[in-house]
Amino acid sequence: MARDILKTLASEHEEVRTLFEELKKTTDRAEKTRARLLDQIEATLLPHAKWEELVFYPAFKERADRDGLQAHAEAVQEHRAVEHTVLPDLHAAGIDTPQFAGRAKVFAEFVDHHAREEEKTMFKMARKLFSGDERALLDEQYEAWKKSPACESAVAAEKARAGLKAAARSLRS
Ligand SMILES: [Fe+2]
Ligand SMILES: [Fe+2]
Repeated sequence: MARDILKTLASEHEEVRTLFEELKKTTDRAEKTRARLLDQIEATLLPHAKWEELVFYPAFKERADRDGLQAHAEAVQEHRAVEHTVLPDLHAAGIDTPQFAGRAKVFAEFVDHHAREEEKTMFKMARKLFSGDERALLDEQYEAWKKSPACESAVAAEKARAGLKAAARSLRS
């Protein structure tokens, strides 16, 4: 089967959905399991989101029509909401609390909604805007990027930002 960036991104959405399902089932006492699952979710989601922001979204935007531009703006805004509010707030909650469970649920709902929108609108449009060869090339580039120091530092910077915001918020609450 030919490589296709859209299939790779959609299968990562699926991976994250499965992890969120497991997270939802945890009790407040399952601190270690919650921490492990959150780590796994971030390990998949953060490189995915960073690469979308750095490569896929800009390439899509260049070729998009008016509806495509709206879908692009919506996706970027959803990434911002997760980055600036949803994820830092989750980290600010004690992992053994109902606050964590509630915020994790919102995180899961946000990501599921976002992923669904991407699949239904952006990816559908992208299938027409990018040739099979281009999608295969993007897929190869994404795989290489995920193993690169550039990816590592983008994810580390993201985690540091979320951590700082979370620390500030837990001081306030
Ligand atoms: Fe996205
Ligand atoms: Fe995505």
